Amino acid sequence: MQINRGLIEDVNKIFYEKVYDDPWLVLYFQVVEKEKIIQQQTDFMTGALGGENRFAGRKPSKAHPHMYITDQLYDLRKSLLIEAFEEVAAPQKLVDAWLKIDEVFRKSIVKKSLSECTGRYRMDPSLSLANPFLITARAERDTEPCYCQTGFFPFEILGSRIDGIIIRVIPIFELKTF
Ligand code: HEM
Repeated sequence: MQINRGLIEDVNKIFYEKVYDDPWLVLYFQVVEKEKIIQQQTDFMTGALGGENRFAGRKPSKAHPHMYITDQLYDLRKSLLIEAFEEVAAPQKLVDAWLKIDEVFRKSIVKKSLSECTGRYRMDPSLSLANPFLITARAERDTEPCYCQTGFFPFEILGSRIDGIIIRVIPIFELKTF
């Protein structure tokens, strides 16, 4: 298969627009520059698909040890990627090869519990961000501003419930020393 870096970049541009628009995934990218991750991913995927290897970052299996990523979140990411493929009318061969590579890394990225998270370096905080929809469902039972325990991670809910809409949900990074 001929590897077209421009096409891979086009997919990533659309894909990361969707990631940054998604209320759950965006929480993982709060301190990550969109253009930087687009270029990193394009370099990585171009090399992984057999094209020019410019990628100088961490392998996916080493880039996410501090992130609590579930199968549900991984599948959500995959569904946005498939939408991006459709929007650029990517060739089926590219789609199949790309999704196959992503699946190879699933086991090393997905965690069964927060306790499986480790730091990339000393004092690296673990990143566990619950699905905001779950938080909303939980918070709808409360009438006052509150702290909600999502099961893995505390979220500070700012503002009270107004017709069932939460004004702002701020994730508080859990500091865990490894
Ligand atoms: C739900 C699943 C995923 C989430 C939430 C996620 C999130 C992130 C975030 C936030 C970063 C930036 C880290 C930083 O700069 O501090 C990152 C980096 C990266 N991710 Fe993912 N990712 C996911 C799945 C994947 C998959 C499936 C792959 C590829 C197979 C991948 C490949 C990479 C690579 C290559 C980097 C750059 C690593 C580096 O140079 O440090 N990610 N990811």
